[in-house]
Amino acid sequence: MSYALATERQLQTVPFQQPQQLLTFSYTPDHELEFTDSALRYYVDPPAGADLRYGYDRWIKRPEERGRLDSLLRAVCRTRQKLNSGAADSSDWLRSIGIVSWRGVMTKILTAPYEERDGWELNVMLFGDTFYFEEHSSDDRVAERNTQTANQRLQSYYGYSFESYCTSSSPNRVNLPGHVDGWGGDVDTNVQWCSVVKTKLANTRLLIGGEVDCVRDRYTKKTDTFVELKTSLTIRHAQDEARFEKKLLKFYFQSFLLGVPEIIVGFRSPQGRLGTIQRFKTVEIPRMVRGKPGAWDPVKCLDWGKRFIAFLQSIVTPLLLEEHSTEQLVPVWRVKFTPGTGVTIALLDKAGVDEVRAGEDRIGFLPKWYVDEIHS
Ligand code: A3P
Ligand code: MG
Ligand code: MG
Repeated sequence: MSYALATERQLQTVPFQQPQQLLTFSYTPDHELEFTDSALRYYVDPPAGADLRYGYDRWIKRPEERGRLDSLLRAVCRTRQKLNSGAADSSDWLRSIGIVSWRGVMTKILTAPYEERDGWELNVMLFGDTFYFEEHSSDDRVAERNTQTANQRLQSYYGYSFESYCTSSSPNRVNLPGHVDGWGGDVDTNVQWCSVVKTKLANTRLLIGGEVDCVRDRYTKKTDTFVELKTSLTIRHAQDEARFEKKLLKFYFQSFLLGVPEIIVGFRSPQGRLGTIQRFKTVEIPRMVRGKPGAWDPVKCLDWGKRFIAFLQSIVTPLLLEEHSTEQLVPVWRVKFTPGTGVTIALLDKAGVDEVRAGEDRIGFLPKWYVDEIHS
């Protein structure tokens, strides 16, 4: 049995609360999570005409993997311990959170009404009063992402190289000896600085985590100085412009969801030569694209997001604590999005749940340690 929800319909304005930061964490070069700001970077202007191919052969590239929630769940536990221990009553803070998700997944959900090409799949569980979303990628899909062509790999390096030129370990550029001017250090995609925020879409509180590229001038422990860095091909004619305006939808929601107020786009040549830099205020982007050929309206996305949540709430059954034993079938739901159509949802069978667990110590896709901690 599967249920369907279509993306098209009349719009309603849906409120979205300004995201509030709960905590940050860093991944070290060994990709170990630590609750520090060791991976925090500061924005600096990149050198004019920078060569984005620089350092390509020294890129330490983290392999693609399943989009597990584990790090975010560690952040949830840490926040919960802090907030519950200070609370006057014994109510659990986590019960107020409707959804726990990585920012990338929420971006895909909210931009679905305008997505014409790429479908996606999610695994969904309801544990306590909270939905957990995990991007579903089959083993084949993960393997596919690890076998990019040389050119795809280079194009994606340009984005990271731009991040290196635009960031420094201090608010002022520190020139690194033995490197080209303005280089911020060799790219290691194991290292990331992440922010976890709380926000609210209509009546549902969301807890969202995502990577933040850098901050401008100083870190305030809030999201107000966050900066998102992007690269894009230089715009040459009207068709390129419409394509860029469409891309802005993803840039917009990616930043909006974490409360990132500023996006800096480096336009580049196909060969990786940096051209002009353009600074966007996130809140102004919807107005900029209104009435243009690649136009979109965030109201449509938020309205869809609200209906998507209501749809899940009407169908998904909770994980009951007695069902912990792996003998029992754990309720894990699979949401499938088809561009231009909408989503369907269906309960996974035993083989599906086994695939999601992937032989690991998990209940559905939630780590056993997490379920034990929340349950206790
Ligand atoms: P660009 O977006 O500038 O091309 P993010 O912009 O989210 O901080 O990601 C940093 C870089 O990671 C991107 O830079 C791009 O090079 C690479 N990247 C992110 N998502 C990707 C995807 N879905 N496919 C390929 N590369 C991706
Ligand atoms: Mg990033
Ligand atoms: Mg970026």
